[in-house]
Amino acid sequence: MNITVTVNGEPHEAEIWPGESLLFALRERMGLPGSKNACEQGECGSCSVLLDGKLVCACLVLAAQADGHEIVTVEGVAENGELHKVQEAFVQTGAVQCGFCTPGLIVATVDLLSHKPDPSEDEIREALSGNLCRCTGYQKIFDAVRLAAEQA
Ligand code: FES
Ligand code: FES
Repeated sequence: MNITVTVNGEPHEAEIWPGESLLFALRERMGLPGSKNACEQGECGSCSVLLDGKLVCACLVLAAQADGHEIVTVEGVAENGELHKVQEAFVQTGAVQCGFCTPGLIVATVDLLSHKPDPSEDEIREALSGNLCRCTGYQKIFDAVRLAAEQA
């Protein structure tokens, strides 16, 4: 079957198998590998994207369900060729560690700050609780979120 979606403001058409995930379609059909596949079970958040403005795990959404909808991936958060302030903050605080979880954390943080520009520590922790980092811990990641909020 064919689907048409808007990804990062651009129309994309793709021929998909009806059972495949939005994550697979983004990565393998549309040339957008920024969203990572680390568990494919909705456990890690590395595939986080915005679907019609709502944060979802792209591995848990069927590509067919996204037909006609709008998606923002990590490739789409930069503005006018400049890193998004959240991306800048991750760089400045050293929060890009191995980087596998980073795309999902960036998208989840952009989503958090769009709803809560000045989140509390608990709100940051809750908002990122679905995004697992397997490497060195969360301190720099939380520092990045706080810095992005301060710089907003
Ligand atoms: S790859 Fe989707 S939640 Fe882990
Ligand atoms: S930096 Fe997050 S999994 Fe390594």
